[in-house]
Amino acid sequence: MKIFIDTGSIKDIETIAALGILDGVTTNPSLLAKEPGDFRQNLKKICDIVKGPVSGEVTATDYAGMLREGRDIAKIDQHMVVKVPLTRDGIRACKTLAGEGIRVNVTLCFTPAQALLAAKVGASYISPFVGRLDDISTNGMELIRDIVEIYANYDFATEVLVASCRHPIHVIEAARLGADIATCPPAVVDQLFNHPLTNIGLEKFLKDWEKAQAVKA
Ligand code: E4P
Repeated sequence: MKIFIDTGSIKDIETIAALGILDGVTTNPSLLAKEPGDFRQNLKKICDIVKGPVSGEVTATDYAGMLREGRDIAKIDQHMVVKVPLTRDGIRACKTLAGEGIRVNVTLCFTPAQALLAAKVGASYISPFVGRLDDISTNGMELIRDIVEIYANYDFATEVLVASCRHPIHVIEAARLGADIATCPPAVVDQLFNHPLTNIGLEKFLKDWEKAQAVKA
């Protein structure tokens, strides 16, 4: 399963990319709005670091505006993926952009029916938001299960990009269900590494080693 980082922070992307586990990046207008500088230049820098899919989202809500912005975003770098919202105009824009060979990530997906529509118009990625469903007492991972099943039934090429991951259990459940990608904020990627027994174990190994060296000296 691929791991994407969900951030616009170049510093965080550099840190995680250096660990060798990063496959791509997702951004959204809220995340990019927090970063200083021009968003196009920031996206270009991110592409140069990651050399994998980087999603940049349109802010237009009408079909013509989404096409204009989507084509502009796609020109930033060969790794750019255009993110459009799961609205009627977004689905229509996805079909046109995909027909032009531009990769599209359809975002803000909350039902299996929406995911089916995105696959039908050639989306490269569908982004179901598990955390935001959990927030309203609806099981986000059930949505992932449904989408994975539906896509497998028809061999859709659209990749399931599990978004709005709030903790490592979301990532593990996504992997168990066979989702293609989990996108996580930097703090959640960091948490994937951690277990107290790893730290305790390492400390003990090193102490034992030092003791033995002291005896031999
Ligand atoms: C996905 O592409 C979105 O940017 C993101 O995962 C949303 O996560 P949030 O619900 O934590 O804002």
